Amino acid sequence: MADRGTEILRVEHLKKYFPVPNGMLHAVDDVSFTIRSGETLGVVGESGCGKSTMGRAILRLHEPTAGNVTFEGHDILKYDKHQLKSLRRDMQIIFQDPFASLNPRMTVSEAIEAPLLVQGLYSRRTGKEALEKRVREIMDMVGLSNRLVNTYPHELDGGRRQRIGIARALALNPKFIVCDEPVSALDVSIQAQVLNLMQDLQDRLGLTYLFITHNLSVVKHISNDILVMYLGQMVEKAPSEILFQKPLHPYTKALLSAIPIPDPDLPMERISMKGEITSPVNPARGCRFAKRCPYATEACTSQDMEITEQEPEHFVTCLRVQRGEI
Ligand SMILES: Nc1ncnc2c1ncn2[C@@H]1O[C@H](COP(=O)(O)OP(=O)(O)O)[C@@H](O)[C@H]1O
Ligand code: SF4
Ligand SMILES: [Mg+2]
Repeated sequence: MADRGTEILRVEHLKKYFPVPNGMLHAVDDVSFTIRSGETLGVVGESGCGKSTMGRAILRLHEPTAGNVTFEGHDILKYDKHQLKSLRRDMQIIFQDPFASLNPRMTVSEAIEAPLLVQGLYSRRTGKEALEKRVREIMDMVGLSNRLVNTYPHELDGGRRQRIGIARALALNPKFIVCDEPVSALDVSIQAQVLNLMQDLQDRLGLTYLFITHNLSVVKHISNDILVMYLGQMVEKAPSEILFQKPLHPYTKALLSAIPIPDPDLPMERISMKGEITSPVNPARGCRFAKRCPYATEACTSQDMEITEQEPEHFVTCLRVQRGEI
């Protein structure tokens, strides 16, 4: 096996709770993982399971409630404002909806210049030419024609708008990017182009991605490891090919059974998820998936679940899998 990169990010027991009128909403509830440099961790789960909150808490766009985040060996939760500003050069984010994250009154070049100016790396007054050169370079990198420098986001299609989002994230030469559903808002035909671009950039620039999506099939080919979340918790984590070949958690199996398999010779058993979704506000103890799980027993709701390493690098949070019952 090829040598894998060194660890760049370590997240330990990360929690983010939001105070809501009827209690505490456990948006992210004890998530731990590491990512190696140059690799991609795919994070999947249904809408509302805490993916975006987790991505933002890692970047401190939300202050975590508890846990540790270590980036290149530094405890970044202890960083002050000044240190956080420099950290932005290394850690960036790409949002789902580039239209919502781009200022409609900024041209393409102004949008890409903004992070360079904010960080004080360039100046319009003293280094206009260098700044324009850097903007053109970044546009080339993401496949945006230099002719588009003076256009506005609404004049461009979704694929090009997302390329501006990627360009902005890349402008500061980051090492790590949270990609929060970067292709989910795009037409299927454009999704593959943008995914290819992101993979190509990863290879060329040695980027590390935390790639969030509600769609397992999107992350299958680009992720080294996949983490499956359910109601704020991690229910399974494994190297991508193992997760697809041998999912262990009933929720992962249900997610996978919803992906159409192109091979007609392969048996396809659809696992339905009936039942109401447990509330993330003051969640009761026990397995949060129990109300929808076809294998649930009383034991599943009478004790808190633990995550265990069932096989090397394959982690699962399911009592009945752990007991060898399913
Ligand atoms: N600022 C906030 N205040 C209160 N609740 C929030 C806030 N942001 C997100 N949530 C809640 O946290 C949970 C996780 O949301 P989110 O991280 O956006 O999920 P996902 O990205 O997986 O769709 C949801 O129940 C959502 O309603
Ligand atoms: S712990 Fe029980 S309810 Fe939860 S996923 Fe496993 S079998 Fe289903
Ligand atoms: Mg989200």
